[in-house]
Amino acid sequence: MSEKPKKIKINTFRKMKERGEKIAMTTCFSAPSARIATESGIDMLLVGDSLAMTVMGYENTLKLTMDESIMHCASSRRGAPYAFIVGDMPFLSWQVSVEEAIRNAGRFLCEGGADAVKLEGGAEITPVIKRLVAAGIPVMGHIGILPQKILTSGGYFVPGRTEESAERLMNDAKALEEAGVFALVLECVPAELSGRISRELAIPTIGIGGGVQCDGQVQVLCDILGLGGDFLPKHAKRYAEIGKNMQQAIATYVREVKDGSFPTQENSF
Ligand code: KIV
Repeated sequence: MSEKPKKIKINTFRKMKERGEKIAMTTCFSAPSARIATESGIDMLLVGDSLAMTVMGYENTLKLTMDESIMHCASSRRGAPYAFIVGDMPFLSWQVSVEEAIRNAGRFLCEGGADAVKLEGGAEITPVIKRLVAAGIPVMGHIGILPQKILTSGGYFVPGRTEESAERLMNDAKALEEAGVFALVLECVPAELSGRISRELAIPTIGIGGGVQCDGQVQVLCDILGLGGDFLPKHAKRYAEIGKNMQQAIATYVREVKDGSFPTQENSF
């Protein structure tokens, strides 16, 4: 009889950092994507708000709603019952008030089946993080490029390139750890600074464009699988051409339907 898989718990990641074992994380958005990622040995899954663009076809992450996020999270949970899943709190689901933040994070856990939530921002958002953690909700932090702030920043600019900005990011990282986040995403934080932050913090850092010295890496699944069209962000690497393979398979199906070579007798009743 095969052994029942063990549920991955929050303390796993701190122990991995202590052992010097890298954490591999990817996004997911559905039962099959979560199941396949888990069967491939992924340590942590993120139902990222990037699904607004990669799956829902929105131009940025801002229009994604709580209901949409929860639907994708619940589906991912059904596909990966033992995985550690982080739900990304959508734009304006947590910024309006602490009460709304707690209610929406609670929905992610109770309706979506998430194990934790992720919030974008630095020291300025520690009051809400403290309240979430005090309510028993595990929180992952996220600094560096903050896609939920593109309207105020005017674009996706790499931070931490001046001494002042680097200092601010280091202070943000420390403030977030102090506030109780269990791990911290460093999005496009320059590699040398990511290394320094990773050494200073006891919690694991998870880089995306943050260089190899982070304690783990996260990538958007559609980028690594080649499902996002021709564009590939600098921080990503394509490990497969699933989009092209799908196109070839569907084109073959279309041709066989048109020329009558599908279905054969074998596919007919
Ligand atoms: O939504 C997402 O995919 C993310 C990653 C970029 C970390 O937040």
